[in-house]
Parts: sequence; C-alpha cells; structure tokens
Amino acid sequence: MQEIRIDLPIEELPTKWYNALPDLPAILPEPKDPADGTPTIENNRRIRPVALNEQDNSAKRWETIPGEVLEAYLRIGRPTPLQRAVSLERHLGTPAKIFFKREDVLPTGSFKLNSAIAQAYYAKQDGFEALISETGAGQWGTAVCIAAQSYGLGAKIFMARVSYEQKPYRRYFMKLCGGEVHPSPSNLTQSGKSFLLSDPQHPGSIGTGISEAIETALAHQGKYAYVSGSNLPHVLMHQTIIGLETKKQLAMAGLKPDTLISCVGGGSNCGGLMLPFLPEKFKDPDSLQFLAAESDSVPRLTKGVYEYGAGDASGLTPLTKSYTLGQGFVPPRIHVGGLRQHNGSPLVGLLRKEGLLDATALSQEEAFQAGRLFSLCEGILPAPESCHAIKAAIDSALEAKEEGEDRVIVFCLSGNGFFDLAGYEAILFKEGHQC
Ligand SMILES: Cc1ncc(COP(=O)(O)O)c(C=O)c1O
Repeated sequence: MQEIRIDLPIEELPTKWYNALPDLPAILPEPKDPADGTPTIENNRRIRPVALNEQDNSAKRWETIPGEVLEAYLRIGRPTPLQRAVSLERHLGTPAKIFFKREDVLPTGSFKLNSAIAQAYYAKQDGFEALISETGAGQWGTAVCIAAQSYGLGAKIFMARVSYEQKPYRRYFMKLCGGEVHPSPSNLTQSGKSFLLSDPQHPGSIGTGISEAIETALAHQGKYAYVSGSNLPHVLMHQTIIGLETKKQLAMAGLKPDTLISCVGGGSNCGGLMLPFLPEKFKDPDSLQFLAAESDSVPRLTKGVYEYGAGDASGLTPLTKSYTLGQGFVPPRIHVGGLRQHNGSPLVGLLRKEGLLDATALSQEEAFQAGRLFSLCEGILPAPESCHAIKAAIDSALEAKEEGEDRVIVFCLSGNGFFDLAGYEAILFKEGHQC
C-alpha cells in the first residue's frame, strides 16, 4: 500500500529551493546583447523584480523559500503525492515500477503555480502594480492570474492565438481570476503588428507572446513586472520543489530512480524534477537516466542547434545559449501549446550538450494515445504536454519488459487535461481514425 501513493508529511515540505548553477558540469554561457547593441540585458533587468535577477546569477546552492511562499505552497496542496501507476504497469505487463509526481492536482491544473507564486511575491515586494507575461496553452497564464490576484496585483497575458482559439475555457478561467487576456499576435504592440503584417493568420507562439509582454512592460516601466513561465534559471530553481519532494518520497519508500522523465518546452518541469538529482547523476551517470520528451513538431533538443539566440520572436530578450530552432521558426498549430517554443532553457541545454540529458521527439498523435491509455488505466486525464512524458515512460517500461529489468521510472505529471479535451477529440476521434 505504502508504495502506491507516497505522501510527504506537511512538516517535510522543503524549505529551500535548489540552485544548480554552482554544481553544473561546465560554466553556463552568459547571456549576451545582440550585435546591434540593443541593451536587452539591462532592459530585461529593469522590468523584473530584483530578487529574480539576483537568483539568475546566484552562487548560493540553496535559496530559502520566503515564509509567505511556503504558506501559499501549503494552501495549494503541496507537497503533492508521488503515485505509482499500478494499473498501467499491469496493462503493459512490465516488471518496471512507474511513478508519477502529481503536479496535476494543483488548483490551476499544473506545476506552473510553483514559480508564479514566487514571482508574484517578489513583484509585490518591489512595488509593481501588475504582472505581465505570455502563455502557450494557458496553464502558465492561469497560474500568473491567480498568483497576481492573491497579492492584490493585476495581470495581463498574451496568449498564443492558436491556443486562444483552441482552449477558450483556459482564457475564461484567467478572466475569472481577474486577468486581462489578449491573443498574440495582437494589434496592441509593434511586435504584434509586425507579426500580423508578415502573416495575417499568424498562429502565434510562446515566443510572440514574450515579445508582446516585454514590449508592453518596457513601455510602462515600474507598472508591470514581466514574469517568465520557463527557461530562466530562477524559474527552474523555483520548480526544484518538484524534484526535492520526489527525492524525499522515493527515500521514504526505500527506492532509487533509474529513469527520470519529463516533457520539455522551455524546460522548467524538466529542470524542476531532475536538477535535484544531479549529485546522483554525477556519481554514476549510467545508473540514472534523465530523459526529456519533446514534440516532434518543435524538435529543439533532437534537431535544433546549440547556439546563442533570443528567447522571443522579436529579439527583445538577451541572447542565451541553448538548443534552438531559430528565432524565425513558427511552430505548427499543434494542440500542445506548452511545447510550442523555438528555443529553451540554457540550463537544460547545457545538460543536453554535456551528454547528461537524453531526448526523444514524439508526435502529438502518439502522445495523445498514451494519455488516453493512462487515463483509462489510472482514471487521471493528463495535459497534452504531460502525455509526451507518459509516452516516454511507457516506452521505457516496455524496454524494461523486453530486457527483464526491474526499473524504477519516475515521470512528472505536469498538468491535467480538463481544458484540453477538444485536442483529444480532434486528434483521437477525427473522422476515419481507428481509436
Ligand atoms: C502542463 C504543462 N506541462 C509542461 C509544459 C512545458 O513547460 P516547461 O518545459 O517549462 O516545463 C507546459 C507549458 O505551458 C504545461 O502547461
């Protein structure tokens, strides 16, 4: 019984985030301004809370989580359970044990609240009036709106146009939480106008949303704190609460993981789950696999190049070194909004570059099929992004079956899929499809 659902006692909630920067296998390449001299580094510093700028360059291995943030973590249901997918294991006939970290149970439906709460807290401390940000599928935007509201701040969100249309309930949710939501590209910013000029049907992306949010924050300095949903070191650090809890939960059950899996867009749930396990990975790289599952429509880690590039579509962010498909890459209109991003986290990129992170690219169809199987077995409906991690976990469990290996597989169930049912319907039950 104890192994089916491992609950961490409230008193065991980690009180510090883990900052991996001092422990990386190589120095993280510094952000740079573009060749035309635009002061993107300084511009971005000015629209962010001071503490977050500091956290991006911190040499401290452990960062104390502010008391108010810890209280909020308890309120939203942390620590989250680590659960075993026993029915799925039986269905697959695998000797592997499959565990999943239940970030889907957080009130907005995903892990994104872990960082949104922290960023809202620091923005309030610095006297900003509102938070501004991008969102792909809407999970990050919802988390920003709820976190902003809980600190008496406003929220303005640029949501990738394709998701704005595909996932109306997510934007209704943001509105309900007091947020202002615009489809990106929009006519509200120069960046948005230029994307629309190049393609009036532009589907938007996380990158177009970032451009519009940063441009707006720069035009109203002191009013909007720009908060980032992924990529940056401080976001990954806040998300280490996931891996730190998981580590304690596995220890409670006397288990050591063989494979850690997450889906990967910008890389924050991947970093959040895996970075706390870096010491174990360094000790014996072959005994612990880190595996990232990306969309084959946006194959950054498997087909991208490791080079400097901007994180947004207009070049308003500093250039960071990571795996990228290029600033001009417009992701196809897939139903997996949270993975539609042309570049990713420098930290995750470095792990990949140094051979510490494996990656697999999956089609949305095979991911949705895996998500459906998971929901039939476990009764839990996963977000389309999380379906990629599930498919990778299933493949790993089947490999263990073939090799007769008793493997411990842990994946991050990064979110639930209640607002994504139109995607399931379109992909799995489209005309003529054999389901
Ligand atoms: C449910 C869910 N999982 C995963 C992701 C991917 O984000 P990241 O790569 O930063 O973990 C997103 C992004 O929006 C998401 O909504």
